[in-house]
Amino acid sequence: MVPSTPPPLLALLALTVLSVSAAPNMTPDYEVKLLMDPSAALNPSDHKLTPTVLSAFGMPTTVTKMNVQFHDTSSKEIYSAGWSPRIRKSEGQDTFELTYKKRYPILGDDIDGTLTTANAQGFDSGDSNYDAQVEWGYSQKTLSISRKKTVSDSGYSGVELPNTSDARKMLVDETPDKFDGWVGDSWGTTKLASARIFGPVLARRSVGTWNKTQVYVEVWPIKDAEGTGVEYIVEASFKTDSRTEAGEKHDALIAFLTGKGWFVAEDSLKAGLIMDRY
Ligand SMILES: *[C@@H]1O[C@H](CO)[C@@H](O)[C@H](O)[C@H]1NC(C)=O
Ligand SMILES: *[C@@H]1O[C@H](CO)[C@@H](O)[C@H](O)[C@H]1NC(C)=O
Repeated sequence: MVPSTPPPLLALLALTVLSVSAAPNMTPDYEVKLLMDPSAALNPSDHKLTPTVLSAFGMPTTVTKMNVQFHDTSSKEIYSAGWSPRIRKSEGQDTFELTYKKRYPILGDDIDGTLTTANAQGFDSGDSNYDAQVEWGYSQKTLSISRKKTVSDSGYSGVELPNTSDARKMLVDETPDKFDGWVGDSWGTTKLASARIFGPVLARRSVGTWNKTQVYVEVWPIKDAEGTGVEYIVEASFKTDSRTEAGEKHDALIAFLTGKGWFVAEDSLKAGLIMDRY
């Protein structure tokens, strides 16, 4: 007699073994990002934060300048695959910061489901080279998984960024394996070798405090939709390791900004705007 085990039980056992042996999901931190109304938050003359905004967050008048460029082929094949390679130079630093960022849109509040999707694509807690972050906007959340590299800025000064050929070389030299092989062998380096610059955008960051939390307010002058002028994007943000705190303070900061007449009830899509307008 052949002993018969019901197939569903076998399937269940196999599933249990699989889920036990899989590496755990990455643990993200949280960055809440909310838009402020540039016509209310900026001086009309110099497009800097008004004294009222600075004082509400206990911010000094000094800012940190950050110059940022994104890189992609003209048909945006890298962005279409969910990746954003960028080079940033911050005032006072002596290195370029290269970031290779993969985005996963989060459906509703399903942060854990999205981490599981990323896990299935090779991003799990075993890879400490990548950082996971939930970018928590007004109504949408995005999981971003980033690999950061630094490259010496020798030969450059201030917040100067590399030209196209130097940037291509830096990004190709530092390309992480997962990005390179995302679509096929050497996909990433092949695309980067013919990439162009989207940007640059010279942003200004102010740092202050609100509700016992360090808060940043950044002003990003981005080319406007007509391509002839400048649209100022003003974004308030804070970071936390706690999902609960992110949610509570997200709502509290919206209430605070709304009370001041500074809030814009839209999601911030800076990278998308830059990819569209440059
Ligand atoms: C790019 O910048 C480097 C200096 O870092 C310079 O040697 C090179 O000629 C520049 N290339 C172009 C195409 O302008
Ligand atoms: C400060 O943040 C906490 C959550 O951490 C929230 O419950 C509280 O309402 C906030 N306070 C103000 C004044 O917004």
